[in-house]
Amino acid sequence: MPEPDRYAVVGHPVHHSRSPLIHGMFARQAGDRLSYGLIDAEPEEFENTVRGFFAAGGKGLNVTVPHKQAAYRLAQRLGREAALAQAVNTLSLEHEMIRGDNTDGIGFMRDLALNFRRSVAGQRVLILGAGGAARGIVAPLLGAGPAQLWLANRTLERAEDLRREFLGLGEIVVSSFQDLDRLPPFDIVINATSAGLKGVQPAFPGNLLSAESFCYDLAYSVNDTPFVAWARANGAGETAQGWGMLVEQAAESYLIWRGHRPDTAPVLETLAR
Ligand code: ATR
Repeated sequence: MPEPDRYAVVGHPVHHSRSPLIHGMFARQAGDRLSYGLIDAEPEEFENTVRGFFAAGGKGLNVTVPHKQAAYRLAQRLGREAALAQAVNTLSLEHEMIRGDNTDGIGFMRDLALNFRRSVAGQRVLILGAGGAARGIVAPLLGAGPAQLWLANRTLERAEDLRREFLGLGEIVVSSFQDLDRLPPFDIVINATSAGLKGVQPAFPGNLLSAESFCYDLAYSVNDTPFVAWARANGAGETAQGWGMLVEQAAESYLIWRGHRPDTAPVLETLAR
């Protein structure tokens, strides 16, 4: 019998990743024979690690923190979302060339629409943060026709750079966190900062939320993330963490690699939400 097709996630650190569990469940669903491993690579080893993996017959890689921008630079071909986000989370081989895709944005939008029944059209949407995580979701959010997309960041300059870069797709209003304190509540508030990963919750003003607000943390944790705790304490109508996005982006990667989309619902059930 031939060796099973080989996949892996490459990151640093990566030991905490749920991707092997998720892709293992997808494979069992479909009866696919494959292996999915963890590769811990320091930034300076990233390129050799990826090239070595594909040279040895590997079929596909997921890329996580801190390598998404390096993967973008390494890819010889790019999907549209990856080109827009300038970040890659999925690598595959296409005609002997390394192709980079970004499934984070699609994963996020699918989670919002399918699992939370939230539409972005006509809504006032606020993104907190202007790093790689924010970049992945800006284009699909603009494409979904919000009434307004506001983006606030600790470092205003970074938010302004992002605004300029995405100008061709639509208007983003940018500000610092301090300038948020006189705004009416937003319909959807998304945390794309990495502050919570360090256990920190920036002092966002409470006027951003009402009982109608939906707060989504792109990060996830088995307990409430600091952002989710803040949102609840400040009266948000509904809160969510990025578990659904994690499973949906994985399903989109699986579709790129294997040509069929797994059923995400049972996989999401088995993960904490
Ligand atoms: P990622 O790929 O996870 O987005 P990143 O590119 O390093 O990582 O971006 C991290 C984001 O979290 C940035 O928006 C960062 O703000 P700055 O641009 O001002 O650095 C934000 N961030 C990180 N720690 C923060 C904190 N303690 N308070 C507020 N924002 C924070």
